[in-house]
Amino acid sequence: MEGVNSLSSISDLDDLARLLDRPRLNIERKRSFDERSFSEMGIFDNVNSPGGWETPVSSARNSFEPHPMVAEAWDALRRSLVYFRGQPVGTIAAYDHASEEVLNYDQVFVRDFVPSALAFLMNGEPDIVKNFLLKTIQIQGREKRIDRFKLGEGAMPASFKVIHDPIKKTDTIIADFGESAIGRVAPVDSGFWWIILLRAYTKSTGDTSLAETPECQKGMRLILSLCLSEGFDTFPTLLCADGCSMVDRRMGVYGYPIEIQALFFMALRSAMSMLKHDAEGKEFMERIVKRLHALSFHMRSYFWLDFQQLNDIYRYKTEEYSHTAVNKFNVIPDSIPEWVFDFMPLRGGYFIGNVSPARMDFRWFALGNCVAILASLATPEQSAAIMDLIEERWEELVGEMPVKICHPAIESHEWRIVTGCDPKNTLWSYHNGGSWPVLLWLLTAACIKTGRPQIARRAIDLAEARLLKDGWPEYYDGKSGRFIGKQARKFQTWSIAGYLVAKMLLEDPSHLGMISLEEEKQTKPVIKRSYSWT
Ligand code: GLC
Repeated sequence: MEGVNSLSSISDLDDLARLLDRPRLNIERKRSFDERSFSEMGIFDNVNSPGGWETPVSSARNSFEPHPMVAEAWDALRRSLVYFRGQPVGTIAAYDHASEEVLNYDQVFVRDFVPSALAFLMNGEPDIVKNFLLKTIQIQGREKRIDRFKLGEGAMPASFKVIHDPIKKTDTIIADFGESAIGRVAPVDSGFWWIILLRAYTKSTGDTSLAETPECQKGMRLILSLCLSEGFDTFPTLLCADGCSMVDRRMGVYGYPIEIQALFFMALRSAMSMLKHDAEGKEFMERIVKRLHALSFHMRSYFWLDFQQLNDIYRYKTEEYSHTAVNKFNVIPDSIPEWVFDFMPLRGGYFIGNVSPARMDFRWFALGNCVAILASLATPEQSAAIMDLIEERWEELVGEMPVKICHPAIESHEWRIVTGCDPKNTLWSYHNGGSWPVLLWLLTAACIKTGRPQIARRAIDLAEARLLKDGWPEYYDGKSGRFIGKQARKFQTWSIAGYLVAKMLLEDPSHLGMISLEEEKQTKPVIKRSYSWT
C-alpha cells in the first residue's frame, strides 16, 4: 500500500484529462474556482449575461453582513442533528412536529445529508461528516435483503435511523436500502453521493487519511463494482429503475435518467482521485478511465439539446439501419412534445432527462444539469448554454421559488399513465414540476462555476423573501412555485442547509472546490502512459 502520496492526485485531475483524450475545444479555457485564488474571485461584477439583469435592491447589501435568516438556519440545522452513542452522525430529513405523519422523515437520508455536510465543512466542522461517512460505510457492510432477494454488496442505504433505548441505554441503527421504502426501489444515487462527499471532506480538510482507510477504499470499490459491472448494455450510461434517486416515486424517470448519469460521472471522477494506487485500486482506475471516456462522449453527444439539435431531430429520418445512421436511437420526430418547440430559446441548451431507444424524455431536470456543470461533464460551452437557458427561461425554471425540480409537469392522460395516478405528484406539485429550495445550493454552485453569481444572488433573494416566514418547506407548488407544497414538510433540513450552503458559496467562492471538478485540461501534451498508471 502506498501512503499519503497516493492521494496527492486529488487536486491533480490532469492525468484524467490525458487519459480521456477528449476532443479539443476551440475556446479559451476558463479556470474554474477550483484553482482560482480568492482575490481573483472578487469578480462578481463580471457578467456574461445579457442585459435586463438588474441587481435586486437587497443584493446591494454588503454580502459579508450576515442575513438575519442565517442564524435562524444554523439553529434549525443544529436542532436536526442525530447522535449515535453521543457522536453526531447526521441530520434528520425534517423536524416537523406539526405534521401528523412522520413516515421516514425522522431518518437520516444519505442524499439529504449532503447539503448539511457541506454546510458543516464550510463552517469548519468536519467531524460530523467524518462520523457520517464512517457510519454509512459500516451500514453498507450489512446483508441487504428484499424478501428472498439479496442486494449487491455495494448498495448504500437511502436512509438510516438511530434507535435509543433509554432503559438499556443503547443506540442501534436500522437502515433502509429500499426494503421499506415506498415502492421498494433501492437508491442508486446514495453510493455516488457518498463518494462525492468523501472527496468534499478530503478537499475541505486536506485530511487524506480518512479516504485512505481500508474501510473507505473497500466501500468505494464495492460501489464501483456495482455500477461498472458488465451486462447486456450497449450504452455506457447506467440503467436504472423509476424512483431510484431524489425523485423517489414513479415519474417516468427510468432507463438512463440524467440525474443518475451526472452523479455517476462525478462519482467516477471523484473516486479516481481517491483510490489508492495498489493492485485493486489500479484495476478500478483502468475501468473508470474507459467508462468515463465513453460516458462523456455519449452524454455530450446524445443527451445534449439546443435549438440546432432540436431542429436536427425534428428533421430526422427514421428506420435507418447500420453504422451510417444519423438517427441512432430511431426517435420518431412526431414524438417530440409540442412544449419543447416553445421552450427552446435560440440561446441556451440543456441535457435532456433521458435517452433510450426511440424515446427521448425532453424534460429539463435541475439536479442533473447542475451536477453536469459541477462535474465538468458539460463542456465549458455546454455549461454556459445551461446557464443561458436558465436566464432565458427564468419564469419557468425559477419563477417565484428556486428551483423547479423538472420542467414541465405532466398532466391528464400522460400523468395517469406515467405516475400511475399518483396523488402526490399532481400537476405542478412535488416531483411533478414542484419547486425545491434545496436545489438552490446546486444552482448557486453552478452559477459560481460559470462566473454568473448575479443569477445565484437573484435566486437567493427570492428564497430569502419566503423560506423562513414559511417555515423552511420541503417544496412549493404551482407553475411559478408560489404556494407551499400540498404535503410539504416544514423545517425540512435540506431546505435549510441548501440555503446556508448557497450563502456561504456566494460569500466565499473558494468553497466551490470541494464540490466542483476541474475541466479536463487541454493545454498539456498527451503523455504516453499506460492506462494502468505504471
Ligand atoms: C422525499 C424525496 C427524497 C428525499 C426524502 C427525504 O422522499 O423525494 O428525495 O430524500 O423525501 O427528504
